[in-house]
Amino acid sequence: MRWTRAVLLLHVIRLARRAPRDVSTRWDRYWADIRDTGDHGDVLWDASTSDEAQRYLDLLAEYADPTLPVVDVGCGNGRFTRRIATRFDHTVGVDLSPHAVARAVRETPPGPRRVEYRNADMTEPGAGARLAAELGACTVFVRGVLHVMPAPQRRALAANLRDLVGARGTLLLAETNHPGPLLGYLENLGAGPRGLPPPLARAIAAGLPRPRPCGDAEIDDAFPPTDWVRVFTDADARIATVLQPGGGTGTIAGHVAVLRPHGDGPR
Ligand SMILES: C[S@@+](CC[C@H](N)C(=O)[O-])C[C@H]1O[C@@H](n2cnc3c(N)ncnc32)[C@H](O)[C@@H]1O
Repeated sequence: MRWTRAVLLLHVIRLARRAPRDVSTRWDRYWADIRDTGDHGDVLWDASTSDEAQRYLDLLAEYADPTLPVVDVGCGNGRFTRRIATRFDHTVGVDLSPHAVARAVRETPPGPRRVEYRNADMTEPGAGARLAAELGACTVFVRGVLHVMPAPQRRALAANLRDLVGARGTLLLAETNHPGPLLGYLENLGAGPRGLPPPLARAIAAGLPRPRPCGDAEIDDAFPPTDWVRVFTDADARIATVLQPGGGTGTIAGHVAVLRPHGDGPR
């Protein structure tokens, strides 16, 4: 290992040593401590770039049934939920963290369309069926959630999303997919032997789950082709972040896919 990476590794170990054990507590403490969001804020993935959001709106316009509610799973502070709500009559953001949900509510001004937020662990058995019982079949949007889950959790989330899309829904996934080792990923976000940019240091100190690759193989594992049809894939997508080496907002390698359940009949 190069000395620069060894020093970076020491920074990471020092930062992460006080993190709580339980992952949902980690996410909630992280959100509880956030002071500012947006391009100059504390949240690593909360860049305000409208290009990325516009891309998702275009994909939803092309592939999703416009009459269905849209559920933004792992909505965080609701940046994308709000953007989706500019096009759909009913949008629901769902997050594991009560503090994320409270922040999303605070950041969402009243508007002409129905936007609401819920607190739920979407890997819990039955979470998808419970939402579907209330909302019916939904379009589902997921950004930046699967890549921080190990495979069994991704599969549990996928099973719930299958229940939530029902027969008519569509699923849009947007995940970072950084190849190679974690330290390279951190360097890509501006970390080095002198330390880590504050939003990255904050995420590591909170003990947020480490990012994992999330490309074709991981998506096929969680959403097997026997159950899902992939109708769109962009393996060279870019996902916005508030960091890049030298400062300013940037992007990292990502993977975007649109899926539909098999056997959904005429649309
Ligand atoms: C990296 S953030 C992405 C937030 C948002 N989708 C965005 O792109 O701005 C991941 C979010 O997923 C939420 N999350 C993690 N595990 C979850 C679960 N099991 N159920 C629901 N939300 C979850 C976290 O609390 C966090 O807000």
